Amino acid sequence: MRSADLIRAVRDKQAILPAELAAFVQGIARGDVPDYQASAFLMAVFFNGLSDELTAAMTLAMRDSGRVIDLTSVPGLKVDKHSTGGVGDKISLPLAPLVAACGVPVPMVSGRGLGHTGGTLDKLESIPGFRVDLSLTRFVELVQTLGLCLIGQTADLAPADKKLYALRDVTSTVESIPLITSSILSKKLAEGIDALVLDVKVGRGAFMKTEEHARALAQSLVRVGTQAGVKMRALITDMDQPLGKTIGNSLEVRESIEILRGHGPEDTTELTMALGAEMLILGGVAKDSIEARAQLGNAMRSGAGLAKFRAIIEAQHGDPTVVDHPEKLPSTEHKSAVLAKMAGVITDIDPYVLGTSAMRLGAGRAKAEDRVDHAVGIVLVKKVGDIVERGEPMAYVHHRGGGIIERELKTIEAGMVIGASAKAARPLVVDVISG
Ligand code: URA
Repeated sequence: MRSADLIRAVRDKQAILPAELAAFVQGIARGDVPDYQASAFLMAVFFNGLSDELTAAMTLAMRDSGRVIDLTSVPGLKVDKHSTGGVGDKISLPLAPLVAACGVPVPMVSGRGLGHTGGTLDKLESIPGFRVDLSLTRFVELVQTLGLCLIGQTADLAPADKKLYALRDVTSTVESIPLITSSILSKKLAEGIDALVLDVKVGRGAFMKTEEHARALAQSLVRVGTQAGVKMRALITDMDQPLGKTIGNSLEVRESIEILRGHGPEDTTELTMALGAEMLILGGVAKDSIEARAQLGNAMRSGAGLAKFRAIIEAQHGDPTVVDHPEKLPSTEHKSAVLAKMAGVITDIDPYVLGTSAMRLGAGRAKAEDRVDHAVGIVLVKKVGDIVERGEPMAYVHHRGGGIIERELKTIEAGMVIGASAKAARPLVVDVISG
C-alpha cells in the first residue's frame, strides 16, 4: 500500500491490515517514509485512534526496528515495572533490588527526567561513579548473575520510537492513547521481558490528569501488551501530591535507602509493596498478594534488598558505601526552610508547582540537553493532612544559593496550602487493571 493511501485510510477511518501498518512503520524506521508523511499519519491517529489490533502491529514493528534483547538464558520469568512519571517517584530504586532479592529477575531500561518529572537514570547517576550506559551484553550478564540491571535506552533499542517520539513532540501529537501505548510498550518489549507491571499516574503531577484518561491508557497498555504475549498488570496511582518526602536526585536516593531499610515514608513504602507484590505474582514466586507482601517484608527486614542494592551499585561502577554512608551522596551547602505562615492543616501540595520549582533549582531539565544538578531539591517535612504550627518548617530547599532561591521559596510556600481541614484524599492505589 502506498504511504499516501495508508494515511488517507487512517484519516477516513477505513480498514487497513496490520501487515500494511507494520510495513509503513518499518519504512519510517528505515528512513524511506519522509517526515511529512509520518507526521500526517500521526495526526490522523491522534484524531481517529487505532484499533488494539493495529496498535499491537505498530508496537511490534517499532520493537523490531532495533535489537530485541534475548533473556531466555536467564531462568525464571523476567518482570519489569514502568511508571508514566511523576514528582518524587523514586520507586524503581528500592523496588528493583527488593524484587530481585525475592528471586524475580528485573531487567530495567529506564529514562531521564524532563519538565516537572524526574527520571530513574538521573537519580542513579547521583551515586558517585554509577554508570547507566552499560553494553547490552553486560546488561544480560548482570541480569543472569545478580538478577537485575538498570540502564538507559540504547540507540539500537526501538529506534522507530525515538524517531516517532521526536516527530510527535513537534507536531503536538504526544497525547494520543494508541501512540503512547505503542511508544511505551515497544521499548519495554525490546527488553525481552515476560511480564510488565505499569504504574499509571493520575493527577496534576501526571501526564493523565483525570481518572478517566488514566484508566483508558492503562486499559490500552494492558490489552495491547497482552496481545503481544506479555503478562500485564497496571496500577492506577495518585499523583495529586508529591510521592514520598523528597524531590531531587540524591535526596531521592537517600529516601530509597530508607525504604529498603523499612523506615521509608508511608506512601513510598506502600507503593513499593503494592507494585512489588504484582511483580512477584506475575514472576510466579508468590501465589497472591499476602504471600508476596510477606516475601517483600522479609527481604526488607533481613537486609537482602539492601544487599542487592549494594551489589548492583558496585557492578555498575558506583560507590556501594553510600548505602551505609548516605552523607557521601552529593549535597548542597545551603538549606532554606519554607515556613508556615499560619497554623492549621496542610490541605494541598501541588506536585506540578513543586516539581517545576525543583527543576528550576537544577534537579531537572527544561530541555532534553540541559545538565542536572544531583544535589539540589526539596525535602518535605509535612504532607497533606499533617498539622502545622505558625512558623514551623513545612519543607527544606537544598540549593546552591544565588538570586533564584527567594522566588522559589515563595513558589513552594504557595504550592503548600494550609487550611482548617484536608479534603479526603484519593487513595494511593486507585485501581488495578488486569489482563
Ligand atoms: N513515555 C513514553 O515512552 N512514550 C510516550 O509516548 C509517553 C510517555
